[in-house]
Amino acid sequence: MEKSINPSLSLAAQFTPQISTSIITGMESFITQVEGLEEEFIERLRKAVNIPSVSADPKLRSKVVAMAEFLTSELKTLGFSVEHRALGKQAAVDIDLPPVVLARLGNDKKKKTVLVYGHYDVQPAAKADGWSTEPFDLAVKPSGQMFGRGATDDKGPLLGWLNVVEAHKKAGVQMPVNLCCCFEGMEESGSEGLEKLIIAEANAYFAGVDCVCIADNYWLGTKKPCVTYGLRGCSYYEIEVSGPSADLHSGMFGGSVGEPMTDLVQLMASLVSSDGKILIPGIMDQVEKLTDKEKALYPEISYSMDDLHSAIGAKTGLFDDPVSTLMSRWRYPSLSLHGIQGAFSGGGAKTVIPAKVKGKFSIRTVPYMDMDKVDEIVYAHLNASWKTLGSKNTMKPGLVHRGPWWKSNYDHTNYKAAADATQRVYGMTPDYTREGGSIPVTITFEEALQRNVLLLPMGRGDDGAHSTNEKLDKSNYINGIKLQGAYLHQLAIT
Ligand code: BES
Ligand code: MN
Ligand code: MN
Repeated sequence: MEKSINPSLSLAAQFTPQISTSIITGMESFITQVEGLEEEFIERLRKAVNIPSVSADPKLRSKVVAMAEFLTSELKTLGFSVEHRALGKQAAVDIDLPPVVLARLGNDKKKKTVLVYGHYDVQPAAKADGWSTEPFDLAVKPSGQMFGRGATDDKGPLLGWLNVVEAHKKAGVQMPVNLCCCFEGMEESGSEGLEKLIIAEANAYFAGVDCVCIADNYWLGTKKPCVTYGLRGCSYYEIEVSGPSADLHSGMFGGSVGEPMTDLVQLMASLVSSDGKILIPGIMDQVEKLTDKEKALYPEISYSMDDLHSAIGAKTGLFDDPVSTLMSRWRYPSLSLHGIQGAFSGGGAKTVIPAKVKGKFSIRTVPYMDMDKVDEIVYAHLNASWKTLGSKNTMKPGLVHRGPWWKSNYDHTNYKAAADATQRVYGMTPDYTREGGSIPVTITFEEALQRNVLLLPMGRGDDGAHSTNEKLDKSNYINGIKLQGAYLHQLAIT
């Protein structure tokens, strides 16, 4: 049975006596204040969702910058001192990378300093992809679901920190810690340039930071909160196959020329099988061995096949049980085929032979895979497979971006504070989880700052990050803000 908060007792009365009462009264007033500010907080999210800050689309780069400006003005209004850091040009397209927004609030030597990271860029979205509402207009439904690109990934959780500060101000409660923010605008495109900046600022802008919190992940299911201590890495590749100098009529040339698309699909098929097995020799060799100790963690975690089915809207899982499903998502690598650029993809039946096509795929990496070694065996495999085709076309493999896996120590006060805050806000002990997704700079914060990093989610597993109809539930937004604030209060006393 989960112990829930007894609403008839004051929160302070349910708390252990050794905890300073001023902190508890402060936390209580803060939590009450959050409820009263619901409309303001939703408005802030509405304004943010309205800016299509899509980092993948160079044509929308000015919108990513506009989003940085919006955040800056909100942060300044709340009393933060704000700086922008330029990261130079994006290598592939030769346009400026969006700025990193750095902000600090409070400079009290007696308080801890918490670094919060979030990203203000979002995935692409268009109504035509199958959205029920305009993706960049927040649609708040009577059910409490708030639809919009970035609602859960990562504008809602990022704005949570600003909302925490506003609620403290309006409640007349002191912030329990100093805040140091690092908000980036290229996460969805591989966080280009940020690793270098973090290393350079570790003993400068980030000096004095005690621990790091990243709110950029999700509950496993829809009911139980979690704290997260691991992520997979992501190495993203493309394969270009070219032959003729222009697209050809398939009636005139089909059967007499080597087709780039035919070569490419053979290559892509040589990477992974339909049951999810990676076919590149050597990939599994570096994977951490499963111990009995690790095995024992999985059955404790609240996750069912229904959670998977409701999140994907189908019953097409590769495994029949939740433990294999979670292990496969958290601790084993996977290879996904993402798309083919240059191939005919419209409606109708165009009889064309594409002259040049680019296949895209990525590998999610896990402890203790080495990124250089992975690149090496991927290229070796592609070159070997290419040889077997005996094609006269040209094949060029390339790396688009890559970020490492991360697995942390959850036996730390940072996690204890998050677990205690979860107990306060949700009346439940959180699950300790890892995730299959990637946030490239997570391990950089840990290594460069030599500080513990925690992932503290706001949204649910069925929010549809990256998908059509991405949403954040109002209750997750509001309780998530309470959770972020309560976490800071718990940190101050842990
Ligand atoms: N918020 C996600 C990371 C994430 C995904 C955490 C799933 C937990 C579960 C982040 O915005 C993201 O999408 N990252 C990219 C990184 C990639 C471009 C290197 C990803 O995982 O695809
Ligand atoms: Mn994210
Ligand atoms: Mn994302």
